[in-house]
Amino acid sequence: MATQDKPTAGGVVALAAAVAACALCLLPAPARAQLRVGFYDATCPNAEALVRQAVAAAFARDASIAAGLIRLHFHDCFVRGCDASVLLTVNPGGGKTEREAAPNNPSLRGFDVIDAAKATVEQSCPRIVSCADIVAFAARDSINLAGSVSYQVPAGRRDGRVSNESEANLNLPLPSSTAKVLTDKFAAKNLTVEEMVILSGAHTVGRSFCSSFLDRIYNGSTPIVGSGLSAGYATLLRALCPPNANQSTLTTTAIDPSTPAVLDNNYYKLLPLNLGLFFSDNQLRVNATLNAFVNNFAANETLWKERFAAAMVKMGHTEVQTGRCGEVRLNCSVVNPTSSSAELGSSAPAVDDEGVAAS
Ligand code: HEM
Ligand SMILES: *[C@@H]1O[C@H](CO)[C@@H](O)[C@H](O)[C@H]1NC(C)=O
Ligand SMILES: *[C@@H]1O[C@H](CO)[C@@H](O)[C@H](O)[C@H]1NC(C)=O
Ligand SMILES: *[C@@H]1O[C@H](CO)[C@@H](O)[C@H](O)[C@H]1NC(C)=O
Ligand SMILES: *[C@@H]1O[C@H](CO)[C@@H](O)[C@H](O)[C@H]1NC(C)=O
Ligand SMILES: *[C@@H]1O[C@H](CO)[C@@H](O)[C@H](O)[C@H]1NC(C)=O
Ligand SMILES: *[C@@H]1O[C@H](CO)[C@@H](O)[C@H](O)[C@H]1NC(C)=O
Repeated sequence: MATQDKPTAGGVVALAAAVAACALCLLPAPARAQLRVGFYDATCPNAEALVRQAVAAAFARDASIAAGLIRLHFHDCFVRGCDASVLLTVNPGGGKTEREAAPNNPSLRGFDVIDAAKATVEQSCPRIVSCADIVAFAARDSINLAGSVSYQVPAGRRDGRVSNESEANLNLPLPSSTAKVLTDKFAAKNLTVEEMVILSGAHTVGRSFCSSFLDRIYNGSTPIVGSGLSAGYATLLRALCPPNANQSTLTTTAIDPSTPAVLDNNYYKLLPLNLGLFFSDNQLRVNATLNAFVNNFAANETLWKERFAAAMVKMGHTEVQTGRCGEVRLNCSVVNPTSSSAELGSSAPAVDDEGVAAS
């Protein structure tokens, strides 16, 4: 650089580097550093084992937490990419956070498990492992603990510094979404129609609040007949949820009532019986294109489990920040103080633009 011999050289060089790094972060995904399996092998070899321990401990206390952690990764990735923006309790730019948006509040859970995992990882190797990678590892561990296959998680995600409520509302599908809207929202994240059906199979675990299916069982306070929900199931749900239920009504029900804690292919078997809980679930049955995939996965559980793992890996690549973009958050709930994040730029493991950790 021509300014190297001037007194301000350091500053200018640093500024130029920052500008270059920033420009790099704006490039389309293929031009940026790639995620890779074993990203922490040299810098924090026990990172994935520590996350697994934290998830297993939480799962031993409450097996349903697996569902919460799988959904957490999905809701992170669909808003600003898999950058742990969903964990932030404060948006530095002001305004409400993703966490406060209706699709996340009060239903999203598992934050405490991520915090516990982060705490042990920080103790073992400070300032190395991003919250976004912890969320991705925790989803993988949850899937395995809940009875499906394990898989390798490409890592190297960096944490974002923005969390915006309205972006969550714009990007996340709703239980009232039609087949077209569901397809479009997944396509916006480079996920195919088939992958949308595959990932929806996650509804074989977990729970829902009344507000997410109330419009399928009541028209005002009148019971609905023939909404695509089996009459017996609708009666059962009405016994659980009053017509005036809302987001502060704490009652929840299993999405897959027969095996609510097992990640099997039962979701696809329930759909043809009119036992898909959400309007969106039922769209996978009434639309012939989508239903062809449903039938394949109902017929072959091994097939679905393999495809689900692959689709989770693909979803985990959504709009990720890598290399010198973003930061490694110290506390998953809040962005780093600006001074400490500048310092982190140099103390974080040096990563070249191909995503290879320099030793
Ligand atoms: C296709 C569009 C989707 C829609 C419209 C949707 C909607 C919902 C809704 C409304 C709930 C219940 C929230 C509440 O408690 O009120 C829920 C729960 C859940 N969703 Fe989805 N979802 C979709 C796709 C996915 C995907 C792709 C995944 C993961 C790969 C996923 C995983 C889960 C899990 C595991 C739960 C249970 C959460 C818990 O027990 O804490 N969903 N979803
Ligand atoms: C949040 O995102 C919306 C939609 O992209 C934008 O209009 C708004 O200014 C953002 N809010 C903040 C505080 O950045
Ligand atoms: C079924 O869903 C596909 C994918 O979203 C869409 O292209 C098609 O138009 C839908 N078919 C009907 C009959 O709605
Ligand atoms: C979209 O998905 C395809 C097929 O999996 C992949 O080859 C491509 O790199 C992805 N594009 C982006 C921008 O993520
Ligand atoms: C929410 O529903 C409960 C009944 O489950 C009701 O008592 C309460 O008034 C409702 N709150 C609002 C804000 O409508
Ligand atoms: C089910 O899917 C698996 C995995 O793709 C495949 O190996 C197996 O042959 C399939 N089984 C049947 C009965 O089609
Ligand atoms: C992380 O930040 C939150 C919000 O400021 C705070 O309540 C919490 O104690 C912090 N956690 C740790 C481990 O420092």
